[in-house]
Amino acid sequence: MKNRDKTAVGDISPWPYFWGPFDEFQAISQKGFSSDAWMVHCERYHLSIMGASPLDVFIKNLKKIVKIMIGRGFRTVVPSLIERKISAGARVLDIGGGWGDNFYQLKLDKVNVHAGTYTVLDNERQAAFGKTIFSENEISFLSEIPQTHFDIVLLISTLQYIEDWKSLFATFDKLDIQYVYISRTPFLYGAPSFCAVQSLTPPTLAYKIGEENLHVIAFAEFEEVCAAHDWRVKKVSRRQNYSKQFRRMPKNKRNVYYQCIILEKIAD
Ligand SMILES: C[S@@+](CC[C@H](N)C(=O)[O-])C[C@H]1O[C@@H](n2cnc3c(N)ncnc32)[C@H](O)[C@@H]1O
Repeated sequence: MKNRDKTAVGDISPWPYFWGPFDEFQAISQKGFSSDAWMVHCERYHLSIMGASPLDVFIKNLKKIVKIMIGRGFRTVVPSLIERKISAGARVLDIGGGWGDNFYQLKLDKVNVHAGTYTVLDNERQAAFGKTIFSENEISFLSEIPQTHFDIVLLISTLQYIEDWKSLFATFDKLDIQYVYISRTPFLYGAPSFCAVQSLTPPTLAYKIGEENLHVIAFAEFEEVCAAHDWRVKKVSRRQNYSKQFRRMPKNKRNVYYQCIILEKIAD
């Protein structure tokens, strides 16, 4: 089939790892984010940040400072508004927060995350790994949407994998969320939303571990849905061109950017 990745799991898939568009085909589910291979990636990634040498840390911090200076980054994994809210004790639901890697970054960056305020919603395998790293007092793990109140939702490199992304807005209202922070999600400009297939290739493994459907949301449609649910959309930091990842797509589907966004609930 045209534009379908025929690489077998375990082999090296040709870059870029995004295939489609796929009115013609769907990803073959390999349960990528709960597979053995993904868990190996999680362990390696954890080790790499835990065992980073002083030189690695210095270089990382230097890059961060340069990014902040040119207006393309934040002091930590979240923008300063969200960081301030977290430091003040806001309750955080990190959807797709894996084994707690964003939480780990917040701790590395010395953000004052109050005990009992941080919850990750992701699959059980990653939760089990996270529980070997963090104590119960520091962070909670859930694999179903909770019923309790949260102040902030984080969606970091996750929104694109959620099948029915529009239904999230009803969930935000049910949980009485005030802020949503979205990053590392590809948004499309000048054309309708579409779906592609991604050959999942974690950076620590460099081979294909499975496939996932990847929703590339038209920014205009996203803004409409936000407005309909009373969310103010604030673009934060400069957007990053991501079109090279989509060069297998027809021209009108390549105008894709990463855009960090804060959604703020408009008061009644
Ligand atoms: C690319 S990983 C992001 C991992 C990590 N948090 C990061 O920032 O690199 C996407 C994550 O989204 C999770 N995910 C996908 N669909 C989800 C859903 N419907 N609900 C919650 N998490 C989901 C996956 O299990 C995976 O951990």
